[in-house]
Amino acid sequence: MTDITKSIISISADDIISEIDEKLYGSFIEHLGRAVYGGIYEPENANSDESGFRKDVLEAVKVLNIPVIRYPGGNFVSGFNWEDSVGPRKNRPRKLELAWRSVETNEVGLAEFDEWTKKSGAQIMLAVNLGTRGADEARQLAEYCNMSTDTYFANLRRSHGHEAPYNIKYWCLGNEMDGQWQIGCKTADEYARVAGEAAKLIRLVDENAKFIFCGSSHPYMESFGSWEKTVLSKCFDYVDYISLHFYFGNPDNRTPDYLASSIKMNKFINDVRGFIEDVKKEKKSDKEIYISFDEWNVWFHSNEHDSEEKPWQIAPRLLEDHYNFEDALVVGSLLITLIQNSDIVKIACLAQLVNVIAPIMVEPEGLFLQTTYYPFMHASVYGRGTALKVNTLCASYDTDEAKDVPYLLSAAVKNDDGIITAFILNRSLDCDITTQLNVPKEYNLIKHIELYHDDLKAVNSLENKDCVTPREVSVDNSGFVTLKKHSWNVLIFHR
Ligand code: AHR
Repeated sequence: MTDITKSIISISADDIISEIDEKLYGSFIEHLGRAVYGGIYEPENANSDESGFRKDVLEAVKVLNIPVIRYPGGNFVSGFNWEDSVGPRKNRPRKLELAWRSVETNEVGLAEFDEWTKKSGAQIMLAVNLGTRGADEARQLAEYCNMSTDTYFANLRRSHGHEAPYNIKYWCLGNEMDGQWQIGCKTADEYARVAGEAAKLIRLVDENAKFIFCGSSHPYMESFGSWEKTVLSKCFDYVDYISLHFYFGNPDNRTPDYLASSIKMNKFINDVRGFIEDVKKEKKSDKEIYISFDEWNVWFHSNEHDSEEKPWQIAPRLLEDHYNFEDALVVGSLLITLIQNSDIVKIACLAQLVNVIAPIMVEPEGLFLQTTYYPFMHASVYGRGTALKVNTLCASYDTDEAKDVPYLLSAAVKNDDGIITAFILNRSLDCDITTQLNVPKEYNLIKHIELYHDDLKAVNSLENKDCVTPREVSVDNSGFVTLKKHSWNVLIFHR
C-alpha cells in the first residue's frame, strides 16, 4: 500500500498461531533500589496492611492480573545467600549488596515475598544464585521451599513457622551469567556445567521442577549464539526454557527508529528459535523447549541520575525511569511481538513492576501509574486465550536502522468466550490511518480503547496522574475504524 492513510486488517477466527500461556504477562521484582523497600513494603506508612505491604500498590498490581513474578533478581541474585532472608527477622544479617552497591537488610525475604505474591494473585518464579554459589545451595533451597519430608531443610522451614511448602515450580538458574558485570560471571562451558548440575539436583528433590536456563544477556553480546548452543546442547535434558533479556531506549531522540524496536525483539526471538531448532535436530529430539523472555522493557531515562547516587544506601533511588507517552507505544509494540511469537515464548516478564523501571511509581504520600502501565494492563486483561494470525496491509517507512517498517503493527487474541481482541499500534508520527476491518461476519466491534497524547513526551506524575490515560472511542458498524497518529488501540469484537 502506498497511501499512508489507508489500510486493511484481516482476522480469521480459525487462523491460529498458538494458545497463549498466561505467563506471557509475568513481571519481575528485584531487591534493587526502591522496588521492595519503599515500594511494595513500607511498614511505617499509614496505607500499609498488618504485614507492612502498601495496600495501594497491591491494588494497582492486582488490576494487572499478573500470573508469575520473577524474584529476587536479576543481578542481585548472583551474590545472594538465601539463608540470610529466612527465619526470625532479628537474626537476619544486613549485607553489602555488591550488584547495586547498596545495603540489603533482608527484612523482606522468601516468606514475606511469598505472602505478598499470594496477595497479588501471582506465583513466584524463583531465581537461584549461580554466581557465588552452586548446585549444593540450590538443592538445599529446593528442599527448604518444596519438601514435606522430615529432613533438615524442610524442618528448618517448619521451624520458621511455615508448615506448608512454598511449592515453587519455576526455577531460574542464575542470571545473565555471560555478562562481565555479573557477580561470578562464567564462560558458556562453566555455566552449563554448574547450571546442569543444579537442575539435576533440584529435580532429584522435586521431579515437577521446571528450569529456565540463562541465554546471553542480550543479542549484542559477543557470546550470543555460541552461548545458547552450548547451554542448550550440554544441558539439553534439563532445559525447559531458555531466557532472553532485552531493553530498549531512545537516548538520541530518534522516535521513528525507537517505534520500530519491536523488529529487533522479533529478530532476537527468531534467532533463538533457530538455535533451539538446530540443537533439537543435532539431538534428533522433538523435546519441547520454550523461550522465557524474562526481562523486557524500556530502560534509559534514569542512567545519568543513577551514576550520581552514593553507594551503600538502603533502598536508593535507582533505575527510576519516568516513562513518557512514546515509551508506552514501544511497550505496546513489544507486547504485540510477544503475542505474535506466543508459540515459542511461554513466559515473559515485564522488568520490573514497582519503582525500578516500573509501570507503578510509589512515594510515601501516594502512587501514580506510568504511561507504560496501560498497554501492559490491556494485554494482560484482554490478551488471554488463543493468538490469531493477523494480515495487515499498510504503508511502511524507512529509517537509518530499519527498512520497510509497517506503520501498523497488530496482534489478535480470541478468548474462551469467543471474544476477539485486536491490539494495534499506529507508528505514524503525522497521519491518522483509516483501517478496513475484515473480521468474521458474525463479529461486531463493540469497544475501541485508545491511548493517545498529542505530545510524545507527555508523562504522568503524582501531581498530574491522568495526563496520559486510555479513553473509549465511540464505535459504529461501518467496518472501518480510524487509528489516530502515534496511538495504541484495543479493539474488542463480540459475536
Ligand atoms: O532489571 C534490571 C537489571 O537488568 C537486572 O538486574 C539484570 O538482570 C539486567 O541487566
